[in-house]
Amino acid sequence: MKERIHSQFEKRFGGSGTFYASAGRINLIGEHTDYNGGFVFPGAIDKGMLAEIRLNGTDKVRVYSVDLDDYAEFGFAEEDAPSASWARYVFGVCREIIKRRGDVLKGFDAAFAGDVPLGAGMSSSAALESTFAFALDDIFGLCIDKFELARIGQSTEHNYCGVNCGIMDQFASIFGKAGSLIRLDCRSLEYKYYPFHPEGYRLVLLDSVVKHELASSAYNQRRASCEHVVAAIQAAGYPSVKLLRDADMEMLSAVRGRISDEDYMRAEYVIEEIQRVLDVCDALERDDYETVGKKMYETHHGMSKLYEVSCEELDFLNDIARECGVTGSRVMGGGFGGCTINLVKDELYDMFIEKACREFAARFGHEPKVYPVVISDGARKIE
Ligand code: GLA
Repeated sequence: MKERIHSQFEKRFGGSGTFYASAGRINLIGEHTDYNGGFVFPGAIDKGMLAEIRLNGTDKVRVYSVDLDDYAEFGFAEEDAPSASWARYVFGVCREIIKRRGDVLKGFDAAFAGDVPLGAGMSSSAALESTFAFALDDIFGLCIDKFELARIGQSTEHNYCGVNCGIMDQFASIFGKAGSLIRLDCRSLEYKYYPFHPEGYRLVLLDSVVKHELASSAYNQRRASCEHVVAAIQAAGYPSVKLLRDADMEMLSAVRGRISDEDYMRAEYVIEEIQRVLDVCDALERDDYETVGKKMYETHHGMSKLYEVSCEELDFLNDIARECGVTGSRVMGGGFGGCTINLVKDELYDMFIEKACREFAARFGHEPKVYPVVISDGARKIE
């Protein structure tokens, strides 16, 4: 990938720049909990984005996407926003650095490519934002702390890409460490690395290669539902509840008549899911992978039936995992397509993959893609 990027950089801009990389992520458990102030349990993976970057002595950014064979050029003012959606990620990162910190940026040239599949729920967009946030901090000597780098990526999504996402993806992409998952408290941003080497098991993603339309608006609607429920709970005499993290099932029952059935189901899922992350962390301390797996299936059920962010293809993959005796399986990431994450005993692995590929292809006309998970480092400069 490096050679591919460099040959384009040289052809378009001449000479060479510095390489920066960042990663996509998996999440063991804790889905749609981040924007509710709950816990998540992600890790960076060995797939991500790589960019070659160099100052160009102008006040313009010139950036080339090698994978899309597309070029964009823009300045740093709000009205300079490029129209290509991929370029808005880079523009948004620049704008957020300027707006949030008052820093002055100068023009640069960049060429980039990635190997994290787009739209698969593995956070290709966070990988792109983190690569540029990390790189610009380094190139301009801005000394931005890592939390702020993650927030710059998150607000890029909010303000330039139309997704009101939480902090998980950008956090994992910036803070990721090889061999460790990260338990993150999304309210306080306290985090802890958990070395993750489940002996006798493998983690594997099955990518359905489907991405349903309107995923971002459905995502934003889920977030809005959670906010409605918080407002109802506050109005019912619990003013200290600022996020669903602060609520419990008793409070939720107390407002049942004042919220829609749909919002009730959404909040029920979130309250249960926040607890599941803590249960999984406890189970991991005891190497109790059976409990970890059981919680993953519970998450799938909640995401499918209560939060309603699964789809036929992902439910199908989850059913096959169950039939094969796979320890844990669930839809990963925001949902509406993308992957399942599966915790599989070594001895079942080949049989599971073979059956999943064959039966999925018979039903949907194409095989799922198979990605064994390698937990890797997050944002970095490539020396
Ligand atoms: C997307 C968002 C994250 C998070 C997950 C669901 O990946 O970007 O912030 O909400 O969905 O857990």
